[in-house]
Parts: sequence; C-alpha cells; structure tokens
Amino acid sequence: MSSNSADGDDAFERLLAHLERQLDFESSYYNESYLDRRISARMRRRDADSYDAYLDLVRSDPEEPTALLDSLSINVTSFYRNPEAWEPIREVLREVTSGRGRTTVWSAPCSDGREPYSVAMLALDDDEVSTRSLNILGTDINADVLERAREGVYHTTKTRDVAEELEPLDDAAAYVERDGDQFAVRDEVKDLVTFEQHDLIADEPKRNVDLVLCRNLLIYINAESKRAVVDTVLSSLRDGGYLVIGMTETLPRESRPQVETVDKRRRVYQRA
Ligand SMILES: C[S@@+](CC[C@H](N)C(=O)[O-])C[C@H]1O[C@@H](n2cnc3c(N)ncnc32)[C@H](O)[C@@H]1O
Repeated sequence: MSSNSADGDDAFERLLAHLERQLDFESSYYNESYLDRRISARMRRRDADSYDAYLDLVRSDPEEPTALLDSLSINVTSFYRNPEAWEPIREVLREVTSGRGRTTVWSAPCSDGREPYSVAMLALDDDEVSTRSLNILGTDINADVLERAREGVYHTTKTRDVAEELEPLDDAAAYVERDGDQFAVRDEVKDLVTFEQHDLIADEPKRNVDLVLCRNLLIYINAESKRAVVDTVLSSLRDGGYLVIGMTETLPRESRPQVETVDKRRRVYQRA
C-alpha cells in the first residue's frame, strides 16, 4: 500500500469494504498491490489526498464508482471484443448447435451483456448455426451490470464507439436499433439470452454446458481465485464441451491435463 501508517491501512480497508458493499466488488479476489496502484491513480486524478478523502468522493459523486471500476478495467467490455477470437467461436457454435438436443452457451462473466448478445447475434446471423434449441446464459457477480445487460441499451461515448464494436456484423441494424448515439438490442436477440447473478469463485458450477466464454476476468485476479474460477467453468462443461478464455490469459498449470487445446493462440480448449 502507498501509505504505511496504520491509519492509512484502516482507511484503505474502509474504502475496500465500501466498494464490496455498494459495488459487489470482492476485493479479496484481487492482489492488494494491484488494487492500490489503480486506486491511487484515481486519487491523483481526482486530487484526493487520502483514502478517506477518496471514499467521500466515491460516496458523493455518482460517476466515481463507475470510473473507478473502469480504471480497474473490471467492467470494461465490448461487442465482439478481440474480433479474431470470434472466428473460432463461430466454428464452435456451428458444431455445438448441430445436434438434436438443447445447446447451452455460458458467458461468464458477462459484464453489461455485450458478450452474450454478440453470441446471440452471431448465431442469428450465421446460416450454419441453429438457434432452435440455443440458450445463452450471461452471469456476473455485479448486480448493476446485470441490470444494464437486461436493458440491452448501449451508448457511444467519447471513449467507446458502439457502431465500431458492431462492425463484424454485415448488417448490425437487423439486430440493434440505432437512435443517434443509442443502440438498443432487438427483442429477437434478447429472447435468446437470460441473465443471472453468479459468483464464479463462491457459487456452484452449472451443468452440461456446451461452450463457456470466460474472458477477461482471469487477468485481474490472484492465483488462488483463478484456480477456483477455472475449476467452476471446467466442471460446468459436458464432456467434449468448449472453453474460450481471453486472448491474453492462461490456464493454471494444474488445469491443463483436464483440457485439449483446440486453438492455442485464440485460447480455445475442449474438456478432455
Ligand atoms: C472485464 S469484464 C469481462 C466481460 C466480458 N467477458 C469481456 O471479456 O468483455 C470482468 C467482469 O467480471 C466480473 N466479476 C468479477 N469477479 C467475479 C466473480 N467472482 N464471479 C463472476 N463475475 C465476476 C466483473 O463484475 C466484471 O463485470
């Protein structure tokens, strides 16, 4: 921590406790030095000279909690994030929807819903993917992002261009209704997706999932939490089910015997 004093430690803990209560943010999953670096950067930006002063700001300025979570990169997401990862995802979707039974795709964590909606739009857009028995589940630990996910309305801002995010689709207008800077996901897409609060570390695994997208959480958490998340998602897969992680992420060494690598660079694995 940047302050060595006991007061500084207490104030840092008070700040983390507040983030936990108000923002569903489980600070124990993260490295403390990582948290401190990012929080201190926000404090400098906002001219807060102590953790307590910053806590006041987080309490009084409704924009600050989101800015802080963004700076921790924790809720950041986009439609078709890392577009090249979506080519193998398309192939897997074609395969897992080709049988007669029902297909379950789990976006875990899904943040504000753009990842599971990307899956739904890709499925609707591709003639070789059957949506007849397709269920897409989006889960996240954070109740606020899930509320936004259920609304399915996104805005272009100074830092995020939603039209650009949707470029991998030939005809985004078929799936998203645009009104200026606002983009509302159409009902046909929403109908394929359900959302639910779920903690990948503390809650039970799911069952018989055909494909899990577990992208861009492992990079932020400590080794023990990472093992717990990967255990949860691997034990949720049916035999032969697929796991895709983020392109800059790695599986813990102990989990590797449980999977076969399908696409090393784009991080696609299959449960052995
Ligand atoms: C950076 S986003 C990733 C979203 C999406 N998968 C993507 O790649 O764009 C990370 C998400 O993980 C969620 N999260 C953090 N800890 C979690 C946990 N233990 N269980 C479930 N979700 C968690 C956060 O709330 C956040 O929405």
